[in-house]
Amino acid sequence: CGIVGYIGHRDAYPIIMKGLQRLEYRGYDSAGIVLFDGEETHLSKTKGKVEDLKKRAESTIAVKGKLGLGHTRWATHGVPNDINSHPHYSNSGDLVIIHNGIIENYESIKKALIGRGYSFESDTDTEVLVNLIEEIKNTEDVKLGKAVQIALNQVVGAYAIAVFDKNKPDEIVVAKLGSPLAIGIGENEYFIASDASPFIEFTNNAVYLEDEEMAIVRIGKEIKLRKIKDDAIAYPNILELQLNLEEIEKGGYDHFMLKEIYEQPRAILDTYRGRLLADQGIIKMAGIDQNLEKFLNTNRIIIVACGTSWHAGLVAEYIFEDLARIPVEVEYASEFRYRNPVITENDVLIAISQSGETADTLAAIKLAKEKGAFVFGVCNVVGSSIARETHAGAYTHAGPEIGVASTKAFTTQITVLTLIALKLAHEKGVFSQSKYHEYLTELEGIPAKVERTLQSNQIVEDISEIYKDSTNCLYLGRGYNFPVALEGALKLKEISYIHAEGYPAAEMKHGPIALIDEQMPVIVIATKKGHYEKVVSNIQEIKSRSGRIIAIVTEGDKTVKELADHVVEVPETSESLTPLLTTIPLQLLSYHIAVMRGCNVDQPRNLAKSVTVE
Ligand code: G6P
Repeated sequence: CGIVGYIGHRDAYPIIMKGLQRLEYRGYDSAGIVLFDGEETHLSKTKGKVEDLKKRAESTIAVKGKLGLGHTRWATHGVPNDINSHPHYSNSGDLVIIHNGIIENYESIKKALIGRGYSFESDTDTEVLVNLIEEIKNTEDVKLGKAVQIALNQVVGAYAIAVFDKNKPDEIVVAKLGSPLAIGIGENEYFIASDASPFIEFTNNAVYLEDEEMAIVRIGKEIKLRKIKDDAIAYPNILELQLNLEEIEKGGYDHFMLKEIYEQPRAILDTYRGRLLADQGIIKMAGIDQNLEKFLNTNRIIIVACGTSWHAGLVAEYIFEDLARIPVEVEYASEFRYRNPVITENDVLIAISQSGETADTLAAIKLAKEKGAFVFGVCNVVGSSIARETHAGAYTHAGPEIGVASTKAFTTQITVLTLIALKLAHEKGVFSQSKYHEYLTELEGIPAKVERTLQSNQIVEDISEIYKDSTNCLYLGRGYNFPVALEGALKLKEISYIHAEGYPAAEMKHGPIALIDEQMPVIVIATKKGHYEKVVSNIQEIKSRSGRIIAIVTEGDKTVKELADHVVEVPETSESLTPLLTTIPLQLLSYHIAVMRGCNVDQPRNLAKSVTVE
């Protein structure tokens, strides 16, 4: 979910609406807004997108006031409908709250509150929380801030909340555990949001709450921070933000996803800029340089991540083992955290996350830290929870990724992980100086090759037209390109709702081959090097069962061209770098098919960009 709040001298409505639109990547199955105009609160909420909320609010409530809260939801407790949408009032109607996260023990609290005369309209855990706060405020006769604090000490779960009391409309109380919360500080005004994008045109100064911190933002007063557990005063660390507005707007493209696909040459360059000094044979990465011994002495590296980031982890497994000769295990964060894993002080754990907020990944990090492992983060969002929670790390510098289907985050994650592997390989003396130089030069040339790969867009669009009505698709690859096949299938599933599976090409004969008939498009990554002949045999197997073959091949390929129904060429590069190129046509394929099927590319159903609940 995404939350926004404003208190100050401007009209809150446009700020909150625009903010919600920017936060829609965090969830978009329902949305709501509450405004206080000096006398009354005005609430509007609806199932659907922020655009639907806008229409409803403007036709049904007075959209005025200098104080307000807004919410865009990704449902956890209670189906997406008008009533379950946030904000939620307390029973008296005095308090109003927005919440991102899950209150796990809400049922027992709800029962107790019902026993004491409270009633509930929605099925949400959030409505329970606001009434708990109200009850504490009344029975203990404390101020709102104190009541919030006492309530939060009784709940189990995760939250970023903002709450105000309409009888005391000069302050908003906010608190955080697990879910992100940023406070923008302006002149006599405060902004509250899940990330800084809603307030970036108003102020560059922001405070990111730490876990178990709360704050009272009050007009005319400096921000006051406290620890929720022991009430200790915390001192705000006011950061100067670097984000710029163009980066979070579409800039002429039809969709964020397409813009982000096309940004990849620049994003990859930004990721290695200042780190890769190919002519000098140097890779400079502070997070690695300062912790080199940890990486060189470890017995293994454990990689944890979710979704697309997990696929980048799988590519990294090949890179680290092949180049740096370090054993790697790649784990879904959600599985790792609950399966009592064996972790020792000698382990290095790398957590990969675009948002830096994924709840399961964050929990896996905390577990590894408790067991004494060294934890390194690869994140895109600067200052995110994972970036703060890890011992060291390297940012991907891809710029904001808004489209829910991850594209440039993936290729820049692979870039960072390649830099790390090459550096470690060099330090360990795994390969010769000339081989090392060859790799560095090749990596330096990747942005230009991605640019060239993007020129196949029209070819991919034509292929998409032919297969847009498919109901199933199979993606095959081997070695470095096996994870790319998984990622290609995920992209298609996510945004076009076509069922797709990624498989190691040779494993096809143990199952998926049964699915192949003349209706079934099979996308095969068949670049030179990477077990080319073996993949060619797999293509033969598909062909003899009348499957339709779309092959991703190296420029100039002849053999596969004769066998496949369609080919898309990518420039030649070293085997370990092919994923950075072969991924591109697969991103474009899913993009075009989704557009042709009339799907909402940037906001596919049921998904969210940043999943801050487990
Ligand atoms: C969500 C997104 C995916 C993303 C995954 C992990 O499911 O829709 O695109 O890969 O979360 O997110 P992270 O921010 O940790 O990379």
